[in-house]
Amino acid sequence: MSCASLTLLRARKLLPVPWLLCAPRRYASSNFKAADLQLQMTQTPHKKPDPREPLVFGKTFTDHMLMVEWNEKKGWGQPRIQPFQNLTLHPACSALHYSLQLFEGMKAFKGGDRRVRLFRPWLNMDRMLRSALRLCLPSFDKGELLECIRRLIEVDKDWVPDGAGTSLYVRPVLLGNEPSLGVSHPLQALLYVILSPVGSYFPGDSVTPVSLLADPAFIRAWVGGVGNYKVGGNYGPTVLVQQEAKKKGCEQVLWLFGPDHQLTEVGNMNIFVYWTHEDGVLELVTPPLDGVILPGIVRKSLLDLAYNWGEFRVAERKITMKELLQALEEGRVREVFGSGTACQVCPVHQILYQGQHLHIPTMENGPELILRFQKELKAIQVRFRERGSGPDACSPEKFTSHEPLDWEPPSPTPNSPRDR
Ligand SMILES: Cc1ncc(COP(=O)(O)O)c(C=O)c1O
Repeated sequence: MSCASLTLLRARKLLPVPWLLCAPRRYASSNFKAADLQLQMTQTPHKKPDPREPLVFGKTFTDHMLMVEWNEKKGWGQPRIQPFQNLTLHPACSALHYSLQLFEGMKAFKGGDRRVRLFRPWLNMDRMLRSALRLCLPSFDKGELLECIRRLIEVDKDWVPDGAGTSLYVRPVLLGNEPSLGVSHPLQALLYVILSPVGSYFPGDSVTPVSLLADPAFIRAWVGGVGNYKVGGNYGPTVLVQQEAKKKGCEQVLWLFGPDHQLTEVGNMNIFVYWTHEDGVLELVTPPLDGVILPGIVRKSLLDLAYNWGEFRVAERKITMKELLQALEEGRVREVFGSGTACQVCPVHQILYQGQHLHIPTMENGPELILRFQKELKAIQVRFRERGSGPDACSPEKFTSHEPLDWEPPSPTPNSPRDR
């Protein structure tokens, strides 16, 4: 059945049929195919959030989810979009016992033209596959998963908020689910994707700076470890450190590494320093992807933008606390900030390090670069510019999704399940 006939069927409201098969069944596949998607619409759609109420991150979920099961004998099963529901996990499964679990985080934005687009989703698919291979979880076809995600968002497109700074957060997960306590590669796995409408990280157009606890006693990741993969096991142990930061009056953790106290990441963000380097050159610097840093999609985007502007030196190099202290003393630091999907760019105004409260003059300096990055990202994500209007390295199509993810919202069908 073609996509056009599927849309027609949906428009004619034939969806009370429990499972709508979109294509012939395929078995024992090492890849699942979007063309095989099964679609089961919820019969009990939930009320959408009131746009006047603030959306707390990760607390509201849409009506549907994507689910694909895998086992070693049969390979991937048919992907399905089904009503949002609890999972069935074996109590011995390796995700619960040994953290054989990974996830991704990306956002879909409603543009000024009312179209919905994902921001650079191919980079998330690349990162997700890398994490899967690192955990011996099954491989998958990135393009097929992306197309399944696109279809899921299309089904729940009415959940994409359109207020300033809002978006639909997309959370793909892959986990080991075999009924065995052995520490070995999983023989069964689940891949699923859930969607959550999220509000603006910073209210209005403001950017609120954060204070950081930099305590070398806590280490997030190490060389040869898995800090450069987005695996669940990296995150649980950070909660206690985050609480420690709170106790000391700081909002987030600045993760240091090594005897020279290298700055690596800020909470769940990559870190950038915009300063005049000791050689007198104005530069934007962020630590290199040497194994302890998560290759952030926003990190890459800021680097792409800055390289393309060509207005100051852009470097991927180690930054130590000693260098930062010296630069602060000599008045060379302009802005320090974190980057990530949740906030995009987040200013830092204070670091608590070895009992000393270091003031970072980010806000006093505009923050010029942070606001420029925020504006540029927003322009790409929300006010989509026509193709070819920007320089190559920063062209909108490089930043937003590829063509199939960019769809016209169909005109609303009266009496569709969600209108009831
Ligand atoms: C540890 C860590 N670093 C950096 C980031 C930023 O990555 P991205 O820009 O892909 O959101 C994240 C968020 O996913 C993270 O968890």
